Amino acid sequence: MFITLDGGDGCGKSTQQKRLGFCFQSQGYEVVLCRDPGSTTLGNEIRRILLHGHELRIDNKTEMLLFMAARSQMVEEVIRPALNAGKVVISDRFLLSNYVYQGYAGGIPLNILETVGRIAVEGLTPDLAIILDIPYEIAVKRIGNRNTSDRMEQKGEEYHRQVRNGFLQHAAIHPDRYVIIDAVPPPDEVEKSIRNVIYERYGIAFSFPSGKHADS
Ligand code: TYD
Repeated sequence: MFITLDGGDGCGKSTQQKRLGFCFQSQGYEVVLCRDPGSTTLGNEIRRILLHGHELRIDNKTEMLLFMAARSQMVEEVIRPALNAGKVVISDRFLLSNYVYQGYAGGIPLNILETVGRIAVEGLTPDLAIILDIPYEIAVKRIGNRNTSDRMEQKGEEYHRQVRNGFLQHAAIHPDRYVIIDAVPPPDEVEKSIRNVIYERYGIAFSFPSGKHADS
């Protein structure tokens, strides 16, 4: 099973990814957690350039292609082998983030993103694609508590408002592909909502209360 978690910066994806991974493991599933961009040697190099290459000039199209390249490698090297081995793969971001950040917010036409995306992931689509939705103002407060901001986080308020709207707009166009979950409540509540979706879709119930496991 392939599950993806997307959403604006500060929506709590990484926390929920770890929790969900723990849930599946507790039921005896083998779980692989990955993050896009990243999770391969090449992907981590590209990630460093994209997020911390503050001195570099990277235009929108190049930025889009670098995210795609990192993802292409991750699909081949990490995701497909894991899925072929029957494991549950949970990815912190996937192609949808590319559509939203470089498309809706960055201005690259969606049909170009879809075409390049098809080549990058060779038709791999998530079984369950979750969007953790959070208003810009709340996300900013959360991110403000971290003391560093990366190249993408520095793109400014207008860009990040467009990111949030982009997620909602794209999900409205494809309601069959995405599940939107309110990411404003505390992590235990968000986890409960995600578990409910998994129960409704797949009949998988996790046997301990949400939040019982540590976040570490
Ligand atoms: P993320 O791993 O969520 O960063 P962090 O853990 O530091 O919050 O994502 C990295 C950044 O890259 C984030 O700002 C979203 C952005 N991004 C894109 O712009 N396009 C993409 O295709 C992907 C996958 C991420």
